[in-house]
Amino acid sequence: MAILRDDFLWGGAVAANQLEGAWDVDGKGDSVPDHCTNGTHTTPKRVTVEFEPDTLYPSHDAIDFYHHYEEDIALMAEMGFKVFRTSINWTRIFPTGMEDEPNEKGLEFYDKLFTCCKDHGIEPLVTISHYELPYALVEKYNGWYGRELIDYYMNYCKVIFERYKDLVKYWLTFNEINAGTMPMGTVLSLGTIQGYSGPVTEVPDEPCVRLQALHHQFVASALAVKYAHENYPQFKMGNMICFITSYPLTCKPEDILENQAKMRETNWYCSDVQVRGEYPAYAQAIWDKYGFELKAEEGDFDILKEGTVDFYTFSYYMSNCVAKNPDAEQADGNIVAGLKNPYLEASDWGWQIDPIGLRWTLNEIYDRYRIPLMVVENGLGAFDKKEEDGSINDDYRIDYLRKHIAEMKGAVEDGVDLMGYTPWGCIDLVAASTGEMAKRYGFIYVEKYDDGTGDYSRKRKKSFFWYKKVIETNGEDLD
Ligand code: BG6
Repeated sequence: MAILRDDFLWGGAVAANQLEGAWDVDGKGDSVPDHCTNGTHTTPKRVTVEFEPDTLYPSHDAIDFYHHYEEDIALMAEMGFKVFRTSINWTRIFPTGMEDEPNEKGLEFYDKLFTCCKDHGIEPLVTISHYELPYALVEKYNGWYGRELIDYYMNYCKVIFERYKDLVKYWLTFNEINAGTMPMGTVLSLGTIQGYSGPVTEVPDEPCVRLQALHHQFVASALAVKYAHENYPQFKMGNMICFITSYPLTCKPEDILENQAKMRETNWYCSDVQVRGEYPAYAQAIWDKYGFELKAEEGDFDILKEGTVDFYTFSYYMSNCVAKNPDAEQADGNIVAGLKNPYLEASDWGWQIDPIGLRWTLNEIYDRYRIPLMVVENGLGAFDKKEEDGSINDDYRIDYLRKHIAEMKGAVEDGVDLMGYTPWGCIDLVAASTGEMAKRYGFIYVEKYDDGTGDYSRKRKKSFFWYKKVIETNGEDLD
């Protein structure tokens, strides 16, 4: 008997701003990523208030999924996808986020996309907000720091829930909501960058602003879940956490305690609110550390209680180490960096590869919450080389995924209720942290390069055929 459930949701994940392109087509407004230039592993991308002439903004064209979605969904169906995780680009529906009426052309695009998925037997899994905040809300309210955003977000949710109620069953309220617990979340997740132009790594960090903005996201998320449960009982509502697994660097009790605090602030703080419906006991200690006083309105805490999620999803790419007095070497990572683990190897971008950490993480999360889990991002960003005959032999990617899937199965054997797996960037797309095309994750290669050139043609990589077989055998054959 197969280890994974018969209805295991195999698929892949993307985000609208990282692949759609067509950034100003059919009435779309500009969002935060549309204001970001491209960078590299060593040169940070920049965010600019005004669009600079002769500067590349990678989300503007991305891989032009907007005009290639039929071909791309057909390729995913060929791999056997059961689910496709994508997001709705908020600014296609409400160009500034503040309109009274939605943009019909934007709605039509997702009608077509989700119908195309369904025609291929693929279930859409939709992230409502994946780093795509309308830029006008940054300018007017300093992003999620403004409480007004809760209402704008709800207007948007109500429109998309009603419009896609027969096409979409699985929803995630915010991508990696815990990005807001870390300085890097300021730009893409919270949009608290009113008037800021400069490298994304140099945005002044204001923890009190982040924590208040996060509170507004918690209330918005809970309101959306509550509204969905009341009006669309067929919907399944999930959260989404960027899980940064960390280990104590040594067995010194000081390091153990430091890591516990790190795990709480980085990983558990947000999901404790979204799954348990209340701030955890240790929240006050975090607030005190920053001298933060929460501004909550009457009713907020009831809303949090009434809007708890049905399933828990997370991204997992890497792990790192934590020490009380670190003099150890730093490792890179998505959103947050930590200390190097001498037992692990790292990707070309310095992300430490740790498949066993995924099993440990799944167990920790399930022990804590006992609701179904889904790994909605995982994968290896790598430089892919095309052979002379045009083939792409990405054995390193297969190796990474194979080991992670094996550990996922281990966690299921440990007792975890795992719904599905959607590796990140199933088709090559723009990297969120650096804005690069060169950092590729896909099973499908896209002819698009960092200088903006490329004819957008698609090619199956070696991993495409490997993943097809994995899905066909429900994860039994990983060779
Ligand atoms: C996650 C994000 O943090 O990591 C994605 O949800 C992102 O949007 C992914 O693309 C991988 O990070 P990067 O920087 O390699 O694209």
